[in-house]
Parts: sequence; C-alpha cells; structure tokens
Amino acid sequence: MRVLLSLVLIAGLPTLASPQEKKAKSVPPIAVIDLKRTTPVLYDKEIEPILVNKCAVCHSDNIKEGKLDLGSYEALMKGGKHGAAVVPGRSADSLLVKLAGRTEKRFMPPKGEEPLTPEELALIKLWIDQGAKAPTSKRERPKTIVTAPPANIHPVLGIAISPDKKFVAASRGNQVHIYDAASGKHLRALLDPQLTAPPGAGGSRGGPIKAAHLSLVESLAYSPDGKTLASGAFGEVVLWDADKGTIRQRLTGFTDRVVALEFSHNGKLLAAGGGVPTADGEIKIFDAASGKLTVEIKNGHSDTVFGVSFSPDDKKLATCAADKFVKVFELPSGKFLKAFEGHTHHVLGVGWKADGKLLASAGADNVIKIWDFDTGEQLRTIVGHGKQVTRLVFIGTSDQFATCSGDQTVRFWNINGGNTRNFGGSTDFLYALAVSADGQLVAAGGQEGIVRLYNGANGQLLQSLLPPDAQPAKK
Ligand code: HEC
Repeated sequence: MRVLLSLVLIAGLPTLASPQEKKAKSVPPIAVIDLKRTTPVLYDKEIEPILVNKCAVCHSDNIKEGKLDLGSYEALMKGGKHGAAVVPGRSADSLLVKLAGRTEKRFMPPKGEEPLTPEELALIKLWIDQGAKAPTSKRERPKTIVTAPPANIHPVLGIAISPDKKFVAASRGNQVHIYDAASGKHLRALLDPQLTAPPGAGGSRGGPIKAAHLSLVESLAYSPDGKTLASGAFGEVVLWDADKGTIRQRLTGFTDRVVALEFSHNGKLLAAGGGVPTADGEIKIFDAASGKLTVEIKNGHSDTVFGVSFSPDDKKLATCAADKFVKVFELPSGKFLKAFEGHTHHVLGVGWKADGKLLASAGADNVIKIWDFDTGEQLRTIVGHGKQVTRLVFIGTSDQFATCSGDQTVRFWNINGGNTRNFGGSTDFLYALAVSADGQLVAAGGQEGIVRLYNGANGQLLQSLLPPDAQPAKK
C-alpha cells in the first residue's frame, strides 16, 4: 500500500514525464459492453455509489470541478459549466458518458485516477437511457459514505504554522505532514495507530491504513502555546501532542466534516465548524484542556460553517457559512448577537481586527467585505481576487489581513482595502493559508498539493514543500 502510494505519487509529478512520453500513451475509450438487462437501474443503489467512489472527491461539497456537483441526484441533473451532464434517454449525447467513457476530451476522471470499469459505464448509460430516473425511495439526505480518498488526490486543505514559527503542518488527503519551517525538511507524518479502512472502501479489503484520519483532513490549528495541533476531518477532531506526534484526545460527535478549527487567544477553548451541507451549520466549542464540549451553537447557520474566529477578547465567536451569512455569537452563552448579510455566495473565511470593532470576511463571490460590528453595517467591499477567496486570516494584531484564492494568489490587504502585497508562484487553486503572528512567515497550499512558504516582509518564495514521498523526485 505504502509503496503503491508513493509510486502513484511520483508518477503524478509533472517533472518526470516528458511531453513525448505523455503523447505516446494515448488512452483508449472504456470498452462498451451490453449488460443484457431490462430491469430498472436504481440511482441510489447502483449509480450513486459509482459517483461517490470515483468522482465525488472532485465533484462534491466544496470542490466542484467544472462547476459540476455529483454529490446528489438533483445536483447531477443541474449539470456543470457546459450545461447538462446527463440528457435523460440519450446516453450517447450525455457529456458525462462522453467524458467518463473517454470518447471526448477531457477524460473523466483525469489521468492518474481510477477510470470507470466497462460495467460501471454500461450501468450509467443504461440508467440514462431508461430516463435518468430519480431515486425511488424518498429518503432523508443520502448517508455520506466515509471512504479513504484515492491515493493520488492530495489537495492541501489545511495549513498551520506553530506559534514559534519552527514548524509548518499541512494536510494532504487524509495525511498530516509536519515540516521544519527553516529547512523545509519533512519531519514526520501524524499517524493514528488505530486507523483501519472499512472493507470495500476504494475497492480495498479493509485493514490498517497509515493516515491521520480516514477521510480528508480539512482543518488544522496549533494551540497558542504550540503544544497541541488539532486536525479536523469527517466526524472527528484529533488533538495531537505537537512534540511527540501522538494522539492526546479525540473529539467526536460531529455530524459531518469539520472544516474550520480555531483556538481562542487564551488557549482555553477550541472552536470547530462544519456540518451537513444544505442542512445544518455545526458549531461546537470545546474546553481545550479536557476536550469537553462546553458550548454548542445549534441552528446558527443553515449550511456548512466554513470559518470560526474568536474575538480578540475571546468573548465572542464570529462564524461564516455556505448560507452566505457572517454571524457573531456571545461566549460562553452561545447567544446569537448579530448577522451580517451581503455576500452573494458561500462565505469561506472570517476574522476580527485586533480592536474587536471590525470584521473582515471573504467568499466564493470573489470579494472581501469589511463590517462594523457595533453598527452592523457593511463598510466596504474589496475586489481584486479573480476567483473564490478561500481563506482569510488577520496578521497578528496588525490591521492587515491575508487571503488566498482560487486565482492562485495569496494577498495581503489593509483594512481600507489596499492590496499591500501579492505572493505568486502557485499554479493551482489555493485552499489553505497560514500566516505567523508577526507576518514574517506565510504558508499557502491547494489543489496541486504543494505548500509554498514565503517571506511575508518581501514576498520572496522561501520553500516549496512537496509531499514527503515525492521529495526524492525533486532535483
Ligand atoms: C481528480 C479530480 C476529478 C475526478 C476524480 C473527476 N473529475 Fe470530472 N472534472 C474535473 C475537472 C478539473 C473538471 C474541469 C475540466 C475543465 O473544465 O477543463 C471536470 C469536469 C467534468 C465534467 C464537465 C463539466 C462541465 O460542464 O464542464 C464532467 C461531466 C465530469 N467532470 C464528470 C466526471 C465523472 C463522471 C467523474 C467520475 C467518473 C469525474 N468527473 C471525476 C476533475 C475530476
């Protein structure tokens, strides 16, 4: 498994395959077979599992490549960037069949991923030709199947810099990698010794796996004393001893992914955000020392919570969510204080200016907004990013904040909207960002799986941190 994983990884590195080699390997279409079947193909029993297994990592939740969401029947039928993916009754005219059957570019799933088997393709075609019928049993939201992500999917979704700036933690897939910030050397991967894959996940027989969590690790945070690293994934948060790399505590009880984590400034509390998409924004606040759930804010948001941020005095918590709202709650009561409305799409990041008077938020509408907490008013909208603004963090106690975006840039801004510095060099969608309190060290990563470290003072690229298995391929 380990060997396989690294092989796939290295094969995926662009430096190793020359253009000629790439051309020579033309990919044949998936074989067309006749299932000789007349009974109805059931979406929920037969089609959905294929899409979950082979497509969902890139086409559901907050990742919707080609603007196509394959996470539910309704979303699939909505289609993507190029319109309908499925034309009921006409499989041959359905974009999904052309791309996944490899008769039209760009082939799906992309190179390096497990393609559809001829049986799977035939099943999808038959389902479409039978009219692409909706799931028959009117169920609750389909139960999310937790599976280990494919070995070669390594987007960086979480990054944290230790308070002393010595370490950078980055999550890739279900792995968490710790680097020495000065040298860029990979020090260790955090491993949960008890982790076993359920049988059938990703076609495996089950058994022990070497990872930090079973599913994608979507959030990371260091405690202010640097002793604890928290990592969030589907259904759980793990608190790691940052020195030893061992598990100190496991926080459970989450209904879905944990996509946002932040410790309070005094280190006493840990806030976690997430929740079931389109159903429930989950906000839980734990006592960081005991791991006890101390506050749960119920019905705070009606969709996934993407950001949580403690006010400078730790007496309030700002949250932002897919429901387009920024909200503020009082602590420890959990009482709702204020809502800020203005974003036209998911709000992906939120933070407080050090005086506790202003808030900044950023979203999938590509803009940043500054809010006055006392008056509840929107002070300004800052444009500049060309794509979704995926994270926003204030830089220590300064008036500056940093953002990263799908437009491949990291940017520093002042509270008046001035774009003070840009950090380039990235060649893919950025999801994760961390900045040291003094603004000197900036770390960002995204779809391509590379973490870039920059000197925050002059914008210079210091290190490119590759996945550990890929290191030898670097010249
Ligand atoms: C590793 C990530 C990845 C996986 C896995 C993946 N896709 Fe995609 N998909 C993409 C990307 C990236 C695009 C956008 C391509 C572009 O626009 O250039 C895309 C676009 C598409 C589109 C076109 C949408 C539009 O309207 O433009 C379809 C249809 C599609 N994918 C179907 C599938 C199916 C079916 C599967 C599973 C069998 C799958 N994809 C698995 C990354 C992925």
